[in-house]
Amino acid sequence: MNTPAHTHTIDSRDDANERARQSTMLSPRFYTTDFDAFDRISVEGMRSQWDAMMQEYEGDNNHDHFQRDEAFQDELSAAMAKWSPELRQELFDFFVSSLTSEFSGCILYNEIRKKIENPDIQQLMTFMARDESRHAGFINQSLRDFGLNIDLGELKRNKHYTYFKPKYIIYATYLSEKIGYARYITIYRQLERHPELRFHPIFRWFERWRNDEFRHGESFALIMRANPDLLRGMNLWLIRFFLLAVYATMYVRDHQRPILHNAMGLEATAYDYEVFRITNTITEQVFPIALDIDHPEFRSGLEHLLQIARAHEAAKERGGLVGNLQRAWHAGRAFVAFTRLYFVPVKTQAVLAEPRLRPTW
Ligand SMILES: [Fe+2]
Ligand SMILES: [Fe+2]
Repeated sequence: MNTPAHTHTIDSRDDANERARQSTMLSPRFYTTDFDAFDRISVEGMRSQWDAMMQEYEGDNNHDHFQRDEAFQDELSAAMAKWSPELRQELFDFFVSSLTSEFSGCILYNEIRKKIENPDIQQLMTFMARDESRHAGFINQSLRDFGLNIDLGELKRNKHYTYFKPKYIIYATYLSEKIGYARYITIYRQLERHPELRFHPIFRWFERWRNDEFRHGESFALIMRANPDLLRGMNLWLIRFFLLAVYATMYVRDHQRPILHNAMGLEATAYDYEVFRITNTITEQVFPIALDIDHPEFRSGLEHLLQIARAHEAAKERGGLVGNLQRAWHAGRAFVAFTRLYFVPVKTQAVLAEPRLRPTW
């Protein structure tokens, strides 16, 4: 039986803003980094591919894409009449967390752009911040339909920022862009097969949206390929850590929204493994290792982590001394479960000769 993740519902603009501001293990975070190190990143090793990619960004084929069409409002009105209260809540939660991650990218890329002089990285950050700001704005419109829009200025000022070393930012950004692509395209393909399950018009935008995320990931793939030290030696242990952190977080989070996935005819576990599979294939462009997602200990380990996350959530709801003690206990168990997962053998793979991929999924 699935327990809802948040017993607190999003019923007002304050609730939505509060949810966006939240800093938990699972909620999307805002990041800051060592900007001088970004200033020193060289892409010379991949110069011709880099310049070609900048041309693509320049072409900006999505400049007029993130606007609603005429059919949007009617489609929304007809669809929302059929939402159950649970689906409504999970959809709001999905919007708030997606908006927070889009905006997190927007802030970080903008900050890097402002604080460095390296023209290559600066140009890339300008394009990426442009795209993420469109994405965040587009989701915010869908929250505004329900009076739940997020005050982005306030969020920028008041949400906690996590410091990540530049190297961590590179791995984490690459992975979150690529997994973001895999998520959007899996949903888009499913709704393409079953248009009757498209319960919100925003999903029609996912096809071209995914191309932006794909290209963002490509940029970081080139950065890593131009600096191959990032892809060998002890760094493989870091890559392994980020792969697991990103996959595990997504697994737990998606299982907190079972109704949303069911409404699209998807089941959270199957959906997540499809997304892992696509992401694993894409990462052959950079990483010589991949998580063995079919290893029985990997699968049972993720499931175990999910159960612990649910128990942790229940303890948080209980509160008080007993609740706090239980939370600490479950946090310890989560650490052990994560560590076990970390040591499940990984697969080695041959890195592709050509660093660039096409979004063909
Ligand atoms: Fe985005
Ligand atoms: Fe992105």
